Amino acid sequence: MSTFFALLFWFATVVIVLGLAFKIRQYWVTPAPLKIPTTPAPTTQAGVVYRMAKEVIVFESLFKSNKWIWVFGWMFHVSLALVLARHIRYFQEQPWFWVNIIQPFGKYAAFTMVIGLLGLLARRFVVARVRYISAPSDYLMLIMLIFIGISGLVMQLVVRPDIIAIKEFFLSWMGLSIVDISFNTPLIIHLSLVALLMIIFPFSKLLHAPGVFFSPTRNQIDNPREKRHISDWAAKLETNNKG
Ligand code: HEM
Repeated sequence: MSTFFALLFWFATVVIVLGLAFKIRQYWVTPAPLKIPTTPAPTTQAGVVYRMAKEVIVFESLFKSNKWIWVFGWMFHVSLALVLARHIRYFQEQPWFWVNIIQPFGKYAAFTMVIGLLGLLARRFVVARVRYISAPSDYLMLIMLIFIGISGLVMQLVVRPDIIAIKEFFLSWMGLSIVDISFNTPLIIHLSLVALLMIIFPFSKLLHAPGVFFSPTRNQIDNPREKRHISDWAAKLETNNKG
């Protein structure tokens, strides 16, 4: 079992790292030929950074458009961030001081994470308009995350795994060696779903995480009068025509 999980996680890590690098490169080189920031938009670079920070940290445009999705969506994402930060201790011999500080908050965040996810899932069943456009993968992502959260909570509250052994396992896994540890059922479910999520990440809607930074309606400066907007390929065409 230890060998299986070590191999699975090495594979999943290669897939997520290479997959994300490929997708981000693709986003990077995709031309944005038009000046289309959603107005009112910032007129300086610093303003764009501030706008993007508000978008990523408090989901500003979602807040303006739909309060219910905002409540559940924001609750889920903030809780996920806390939960993931709490997990850093499995990958560091001596965790950073702030990782120790957030441990208790991360514990409660597991509940708010699952509540947020259940709200987002209910929305896909209850709201007819959303149900109509929901694809199987929309449900799949939510259900996977819910089961990751519930299996984590079961380990936290009901069937305690040997977390010292899990830490040893992942520390040596990072050094490319395998130590033998025992796995209980919730841990098997938890780790299998996490690995699966890592593998499908670069091919799925979860790409909205890096994708938001490449959204022209959010990352452009509103300065079309001061500076002519011309994408790289159009600029090249212009130079060729002149030549
Ligand atoms: C290789 C990666 C991971 C390992 C080794 C791991 C392991 C564990 C373990 C041992 C626990 C029980 C903690 C305790 O009893 O104190 C736990 C809890 C939990 N895990 Fe994971 N997990 C991993 C990745 C993830 C990911 C990616 C998510 C979310 C998408 C997640 C969500 C949770 C939640 C919500 C809990 C319950 C709250 C908590 O105790 O922190 N885990 N995990």
